[in-house]
Amino acid sequence: MRSASTASLDFEAWLDSHDSPDHDRIWLDSTWRAAVRRDLLRWFRRESRDLPWRVESTTYRVWVSEIMLQQTQVATVVDYYHRFMKSFPTVRDLADASEQTVLSHWEGLGYYRRARSLHAAARKIVDEHGGEFPETYPEVLALPGVGRYTAGAILSIACDQRLPILEGNTQRVFSRWVASRAPVTERAATTLLWKIAEAMLPTRDAGSFNQAAMELGALICRPTSPHCTQCPVSKHCQASRLGLQEVIPGKVKKLKYEDRKEYAFVVLDREVAGVATKSRYLIRLLPEGGRWAGLWDFPRTSDQSYRKIEDASRGLSAEIGLPLKVKDKLLTIQHAVTRFKIKLNVYSATCKLPRNTALRVSKPWRLATLEEMKDLPMSVTGRKIADYLARPSSGTESS
Ligand code: ADE
Repeated sequence: MRSASTASLDFEAWLDSHDSPDHDRIWLDSTWRAAVRRDLLRWFRRESRDLPWRVESTTYRVWVSEIMLQQTQVATVVDYYHRFMKSFPTVRDLADASEQTVLSHWEGLGYYRRARSLHAAARKIVDEHGGEFPETYPEVLALPGVGRYTAGAILSIACDQRLPILEGNTQRVFSRWVASRAPVTERAATTLLWKIAEAMLPTRDAGSFNQAAMELGALICRPTSPHCTQCPVSKHCQASRLGLQEVIPGKVKKLKYEDRKEYAFVVLDREVAGVATKSRYLIRLLPEGGRWAGLWDFPRTSDQSYRKIEDASRGLSAEIGLPLKVKDKLLTIQHAVTRFKIKLNVYSATCKLPRNTALRVSKPWRLATLEEMKDLPMSVTGRKIADYLARPSSGTESS
């Protein structure tokens, strides 16, 4: 299935070193590529969603949207995006903000490293590019948090540069177009899919093609039960022709979760009955390099050698240098982080301090009221605990 018109591409040599069935090679056919492109773009012009970053596609706006969209659904991102753009309308506004303020805007979106990289990149743009978003591929790729996909997306969408993209949606879409059965995480599959992504690009308006392919994956070419009858390119799709759309791409091995038990403590700055809204709670800024770095959390242990709450409180007392006295179990939170399925047992505790001694702590620790915590960026479970404490039924004082 090779056509003379592809002779200018260097894909032929690459393919010679790879075994693949004929349908895998359909993308080498320029007539097929042109037909897919035409039908896809026609559909995209008609059906594309009105998304805030599509209204005014500057490099800055597209960059922020693409970072937010990594591992996160469009529907979740939209409100965050509006809030972020209102607070940081330009790259300079973002660079001038504190990391804590940026993290507060990110709270709940997850994968906080993205926010920290975004902020670091904004500062780099101000320091090294005079506050102008760079427009060459190597410069964009050199920004913190920007990989091949994001650099391609920014420059194709905002600057009409002919650069390919490959992410979750397009991995699936391209695999189905050519009926490549391999799991998309296999190295050979990734190499093939990037080649296809590049070959498919039109000479002009690569950004629309890239967005259209992602949009097709998001709306029609779904992971399960794809809507092939509504698909604008199903007549060109090899998986659809072979009836393999449900088994393509091949299954990626599921991550095996490991069960863990962890403990968190709600520590008041003074001994009171129950928990109290007016009281201040001990919280800490999570350190660089660890889980939820840069966010605030209640004191918590992750050491798996602590089998019981008493072990955990002894360990934490030694770490903070304060003698903790465990009181009641408040709640249990189940959550997953990377490959861990965590059961977090939350206890109230007090510090055994001499009478009339106020609890004093220094960085990374601080004491904060529930009201103050509303303005701090908090870890997912830290926020859940604060919300629990703010509920009238949790035994809080009225404020
Ligand atoms: N997913 C990530 N970026 C996207 C975009 N620009 N359009 C649609 N879906 C996306």
